[in-house]
Amino acid sequence: MISRYDAIAEKIRHFSVTACLVPICSLYGAAITTVEGVGSTKTRIHPVQERIAKSHGTQCGFCTPGMVMSIYTLLRNHPEPSPEQLMETLGGNLCRCTGYRPIVEAGSSFSPSSSCCQMNRDGRCCLDQKQNEHESKANVCTKLYEKEEFQPLDPTQEFIFPPELMRMAEEPQKKVLTFHGERTTWITPGTLNDLLGLKKKYPKAPLVVGNTCVGPDMKFREVVHPVILSPARTLELFVVATTEEGLTLGAGLSLARVKDILADVVWKLPEERTQTYRALLKHLSTLAGQQIRNLASLGGHIVSRLTTSDLNPILGVGHCILNIASIEGTQHIPLNSHFLAGDANLKPEQVLVSVFIPVSEKWAFVSAFRQAPRQQNALATVNAGMRVLFKDGTHTIADLSIFYGGVGPTTRSATKSCRQLIGRCWDERMLSDACRLVLDEVTLPDSAPGGMVEFRRTLMISFLFKFYLDVLQQLKMRDPSGYPDTSKKFLDALADFPLTTPRGIQSYERVDPQQPPQDPVGRPVMHQSGVKHATGEAVFCDDMPAFSGELFLAVVTSTRPHAKLISIDASEALASPGVVDVITAQDVPGDNGSEEERLYAQDKVACVGQVVCTVAADSYAHAKQATQKVKIEYEDVEPVIVSIQDAIKHRSFIGPEKKLEQGNIEAAFQSVDQIIEGEVHFGGQEHFYMETQSVLVVPKAEDKEVDIYVSSQDAAFTQEMVAHTLGVPKNRINCHVKRVGGAFGGKASKPASLAAMAAVAANKTGHPIRFILERGDDMLITGGRHPLLGKYKVGFMNNGKIEAADIEYHINGGCTPDESEMVIEYALLKLENAYKIPNLRVRGRACKTNLPSNTAFRGFGFPQGAFVTEVWLAAVAAKCNLPPERVRELNMYKAIDKTIHKQEFDPKNLRRCWEKCLESSSYYIRRKAAEEFNQQHYWKKRGLAIIPMKFSVGFPKSFYYQAAALVHIYTDGSVLVAHGGVELGQGINTKMIQVASRELKIPMSYIHLGEMNTVTVPNTIGTGGSTGADVNGKAVQNACQTLLRRLEPIISQSPQGSWEEWVNEAFTQSISLSATGYFRGYRADMDWEKGEGNMPPYFVFGAACSEVEIDCLTGAHKNTRTDIVMDASFSINPAVDIGQIEGAFTQGLGLYTIEELKYSPEGVLYTRGPNQYKIPSVTDVPEELHVSLLTPTPNPIAIYSSKIPKIDCKCCKPWSIAVA
Ligand SMILES: Cc1cc2nc3c(=O)[nH]c(=O)nc-3n(C[C@H](O)[C@H](O)[C@H](O)COP(=O)(O)OP(=O)(O)OC[C@H]3O[C@@H](n4cnc5c(N)ncnc54)[C@H](O)[C@@H]3O)c2cc1C
Ligand code: FES
Repeated sequence: MISRYDAIAEKIRHFSVTACLVPICSLYGAAITTVEGVGSTKTRIHPVQERIAKSHGTQCGFCTPGMVMSIYTLLRNHPEPSPEQLMETLGGNLCRCTGYRPIVEAGSSFSPSSSCCQMNRDGRCCLDQKQNEHESKANVCTKLYEKEEFQPLDPTQEFIFPPELMRMAEEPQKKVLTFHGERTTWITPGTLNDLLGLKKKYPKAPLVVGNTCVGPDMKFREVVHPVILSPARTLELFVVATTEEGLTLGAGLSLARVKDILADVVWKLPEERTQTYRALLKHLSTLAGQQIRNLASLGGHIVSRLTTSDLNPILGVGHCILNIASIEGTQHIPLNSHFLAGDANLKPEQVLVSVFIPVSEKWAFVSAFRQAPRQQNALATVNAGMRVLFKDGTHTIADLSIFYGGVGPTTRSATKSCRQLIGRCWDERMLSDACRLVLDEVTLPDSAPGGMVEFRRTLMISFLFKFYLDVLQQLKMRDPSGYPDTSKKFLDALADFPLTTPRGIQSYERVDPQQPPQDPVGRPVMHQSGVKHATGEAVFCDDMPAFSGELFLAVVTSTRPHAKLISIDASEALASPGVVDVITAQDVPGDNGSEEERLYAQDKVACVGQVVCTVAADSYAHAKQATQKVKIEYEDVEPVIVSIQDAIKHRSFIGPEKKLEQGNIEAAFQSVDQIIEGEVHFGGQEHFYMETQSVLVVPKAEDKEVDIYVSSQDAAFTQEMVAHTLGVPKNRINCHVKRVGGAFGGKASKPASLAAMAAVAANKTGHPIRFILERGDDMLITGGRHPLLGKYKVGFMNNGKIEAADIEYHINGGCTPDESEMVIEYALLKLENAYKIPNLRVRGRACKTNLPSNTAFRGFGFPQGAFVTEVWLAAVAAKCNLPPERVRELNMYKAIDKTIHKQEFDPKNLRRCWEKCLESSSYYIRRKAAEEFNQQHYWKKRGLAIIPMKFSVGFPKSFYYQAAALVHIYTDGSVLVAHGGVELGQGINTKMIQVASRELKIPMSYIHLGEMNTVTVPNTIGTGGSTGADVNGKAVQNACQTLLRRLEPIISQSPQGSWEEWVNEAFTQSISLSATGYFRGYRADMDWEKGEGNMPPYFVFGAACSEVEIDCLTGAHKNTRTDIVMDASFSINPAVDIGQIEGAFTQGLGLYTIEELKYSPEGVLYTRGPNQYKIPSVTDVPEELHVSLLTPTPNPIAIYSSKIPKIDCKCCKPWSIAVA
């Protein structure tokens, strides 16, 4: 949070910012507050920190400090924020774990209306009705935390703005301030004259205000500016002047300030005079996120003339004037099509001082439109500003302006079309001609950059149609008798989806009232590190203090998809400032990976993004700069295989085809009523864990020992890979994992390779190495979810009963095997989902392509495979003219049966989840209501879909299920637990403490769980497959039971004694107070030769129902409600499990709707950061999200009869969109 004193308004302004975009020199005169300054466990935690932690708004914790700071800043400005303010505040933050609902709940608790959730659409509280309904059911509980425990917010406790900064602002110095850096000089003049003089002297120097345009160019595109001018102290650039004619706004004002100013003006002036201001306000609510709007300036926005600028089209139609100054004098130029097209540029020595935005004329109407992949914080796909002026009191067009963004390199004006329409009446014929003219004038060739050409053309016309209706409506309001009525049915085209606050009820089974109060199992215990996440005290890899002599590593990656490596010339890079060494395959002392999967490229490269070499330097900036200087000579090799189709054509595969079969499909196809065939293409997904891949390698002085601090799901694999690479035994390598900032499968295998690369660098240089991938490199190098091509042939009866299906899957494995073979196996094993298809054949193969290698990802093939299954089920329903849920129900497993891999299971709880979901979502009533809605609305449609889920947890081999733990009791009674699982945010450590607490019958406060490492628990299995807490829990239980058995004689001798006394007595009697625990695992014996075997120890069942509303004109969609029912049996921690369900649901929502990886035809990944790749934000969460854990039935095989819930039935959203 940045705080500044505004001497004119006599006010301290606080604003949240995106820290990585703030140049340190721009902070002159500002006070900075970071999460550490808000509160700490050492002193006092702040209510925001407390509430986020206690309401389970943190899982991995990597996003949590950002969330805390956003809410904290909001509270500093508005101690009782409205729900809208909260949503706007959080719109700029991303979380990949929680699904946002609990974070919003924490923030909402500061709103005056927070005691009422307003769940019911009539504004009443759910507590009045729904919650009571839930609560009244036997043992059902809907409370995950005690609100009553929250400390009140006391604004008087906040820090005081430094008085010296206030004095500085009141008596600003006029002298020029200059800061010299290694490559850049930053100059801040105190007066406009000085600024203009400097601009004359340094015409090429950018004028940096928000740095949101210049900053990314410097950071990601290696643009260097030797001089930067900052007008932050030039008062003329911050002017706000109102006259009868309009508003003059300083070019230096932030977009957030502009928004506040416009809101104030709109409130004061009559509506007809504020048309342009209202249109600007509309876009200012969704442009970027709050943090960017707090930085970005009006002038920077206008001058940058980005094609997707949201404000320029409106300023253009609004006839704004740019007030420009240079040392030669001032000038006023119109912000029109010439300026926006780049034909009327500012001269290098000129500065935009302010912008004049006129009030609107009486018969002028201005509207703004935008459609973006996400409601907030996403650049528009297409946007528009439109203005029409009528001859007084008529509907004859006197003037018309239409500007579009996103349809060319700059904002484009339909000038000629508008000119031709002057004099026409505002009627349907005019509209029809306008559409034709505009499409002819603002052309978008089929090969236009950004693709989606048809969609973008449609949006242009849809916006025009919306404008037509909007104006018609406004004319009608001004003169009700002068204009015909527009059918209500069509008017729904006008309303955008509102930004709503997500809310919901989470219900689970209360623990048995007989359970001792200190036994935490089954209770919604807060994440063990929750408070530390919220205070910023939780240490992630890159938070670790620097080791002496530490170097930083940056990667040089292949720019060719398939080529021979002819030479690597590192001489220039080696001569760069700060560079210590360049590391290549030749420096690997042991194995450079395997023949199929090299660490450092050797002789050839197989994808764009493959690591060729790394540069070690004294700072990351130096290492990164030097990477540009490494010269690599390639010789291209054919073929270049990018798509699955290419791979099939070239028969380029990883491993053999896998096949499962039951029944007799050929015979069954002969006897069915109908047969359908089809193909489904399913794109990949980026993990987008918030903490990018991170590792620190610290060589020790003796015996080739190395400490590795790594963000990995699999410490033992990292240890193994580093040992092989260095050519030393594993016993010299200790891997430490304290916590991981999100993984989702992406940190199963990849961190091992990266750690090994860093270890080679450490070995060569003799220095500790810090290797943290930037987001762009991470996305480029590490791969993601496998894209899938599914082909199906399905035979069914006219009543919807499916008799036969022949399915073929191919996945895009990328250039190395990684886990692709296992992913295709899982896709086949799980593709039947909840359905019994008596005659079924499934075949699948992983393709080898010239893309970065894809890897494990939450669900491991199930989300892709089961999606295709739902496609053909829906197709069958459509062919039979039956509701999809009836066909799903008809084909669902009904009684004890065998899966396609001949594993027996009881689908009772699957049916229970389905029935409960139908009931709790009021499916049939709401479907009828949606049908009625659809009849009454022409452009907005609603749809509901319900999908069941049967998910097999775990792995196909028994040894994957083994787990170990180590538990020590110290003589003061405190207990230290270590186990083989990794804390990824999924709450495994919290659950392990709960297990130890129950087993040892001591409060959780006695138990501590530090890091996991390969010394305390060796030969661990990677944490994944939804079994981590289960198997490690059994190992912890085993160790604790051993210890308790040793203590039992002492306890029985002195039953009234205390834990500490028993422990001391045991020590005195020389009884060991340390024990290992071990769990051998479950039986898994999948035999692919026979096509049968046991795979999961148990199945997890669920069902989910989503309702969606879509805008048929723009493709915008809003998930209005989702109900999820999940069988977690006896949940060890319902808060953790519900958190996992909500988080996975939200990740699935991204997968199936907005997330899209884009590659060039040569396999170059375009989507390399949050700007291009959109994961769900707070605005994507369903308005209502209800999660209930099924009334438990025993699952004796797992610890305490629990199940790890797995919500992969999240694909209900695309189906509800399809229905709509
Ligand atoms: C994450 C992110 C999300 C975004 N989302 C959106 C969005 O949804 N919609 C949208 O429309 N835009 C969006 N933007 C773009 C954003 O609006 C612009 O980057 C911003 O307005 C530029 O202002 P600035 O002050 O940061 O410019 P700076 O980076 O400081 O400067 C940009 C350029 O303008 C010049 N300049 C600045 N001020 C002046 C002046 N007074 N006179 C002459 N030249 C000047 C500088 O020399 C420089 O060349 C987004 C940007 C980011 C980083
Ligand atoms: S808790 Fe938000 S990203 Fe992990």
